[in-house]
Amino acid sequence: MKRILVTGGNGFIGSHTSIVLLQKDYEVVIVDSFINSSRNFYERIKILAKRIDSNLLRRIIFFEGDIRDKNLLEGIFRKSANEGKRIVGVIHFAGLKAVAESLKEPSKYWDFNFIGTFRLIEVMEKYDCRTLIFSSSATVYGCSKDFLISENAAVNPINPYGHTKAAIENFLKNIYDSKSDKWRIACLRYFNPIGAHSTGLIGDNPNGIPNNIFPFINQVAIGKIERLEIFGNDWDTSDGTCIRDYIHVMDLAEGHILSLEFLLENECRFINLNLGTGIGTSVLELVNIFQEENKVKVPFNYADRRVGDIARIVADNGFAYSLLNWKPTKTINEMCKDGWRWQQVKG
Ligand code: UD1
Repeated sequence: MKRILVTGGNGFIGSHTSIVLLQKDYEVVIVDSFINSSRNFYERIKILAKRIDSNLLRRIIFFEGDIRDKNLLEGIFRKSANEGKRIVGVIHFAGLKAVAESLKEPSKYWDFNFIGTFRLIEVMEKYDCRTLIFSSSATVYGCSKDFLISENAAVNPINPYGHTKAAIENFLKNIYDSKSDKWRIACLRYFNPIGAHSTGLIGDNPNGIPNNIFPFINQVAIGKIERLEIFGNDWDTSDGTCIRDYIHVMDLAEGHILSLEFLLENECRFINLNLGTGIGTSVLELVNIFQEENKVKVPFNYADRRVGDIARIVADNGFAYSLLNWKPTKTINEMCKDGWRWQQVKG
């Protein structure tokens, strides 16, 4: 049974990926500082694991702490090695992800995201663990005008958060190039992850007022927030609202497992991979589908464009399909349904 370290495994994508890893017979070591999640949420992961199969619980190990703490990371790798269960790969989610905050506090983003990854690589090298899946983002493409964005599109981020992701990708490429017979690295560029686990036990759990549209819609629907502001209805799109490529978090989780298995089973390489559906949905369409699918009201009004937004960003996901045979399976309706189930359970 292979042991995998999941940094930020208590977050939105990390928690769903950890559950799928457990189901696929991996042992999962989660390290999380709770900066963007909670202890209570970790209890939910355990409840879900137990509900799937009580044996899964024995295969999750949790460490509370920050990955910039080299002693903590070393302790995790050392403990596993001493137990004769070496960590064979890392899926690295830990980091900050709010664009607006990154504009106000860029240093904080470089510290948490870049320095955190830097420490992780140092410790991975020391413990001879050289398989890494990095949680990147389509944000690295900035303002690409391509109808479908492929991995070859220019990397040109437009905010500090995006710059940290792009810089980490570059750093990881340097690391790979320095020992290309040793490292296996995949940078997964997510488009817009939404939805939740179909049980409603885990989902996106942002602290405070959400930045992203989907948790915002959910909180309006449940009455926590009065109304949604749609940022602009004068964009150059069919209904004037922005188009995004929303992807179900479980499809995304599956993409991580397939990437990990591909890296573990093949010769060393470095890859950048888009994880999106290739289907564009406008903000207005998303709101309408959410309302119809869940039979709830989401009051909204149009507001000014948000600084830094772009009209349309949709993935060309052909590379992930050809390399991994990965194809997202869940529709936007399922994303809305699963997300709303989670919101109702969570309250
Ligand atoms: C954002 C980040 C991106 C990050 C991604 C995934 C920005 C500029 N980009 O992408 O770096 O990788 O989340 O977490 O923040 N919208 C509204 N009203 C709202 C909130 C959003 O109309 O209250 C609209 C936005 O204008 C956008 C769409 O909904 O057109 C999606 O927004 P959001 O969920 O914030 O994601 P992105 O901006 O695509």
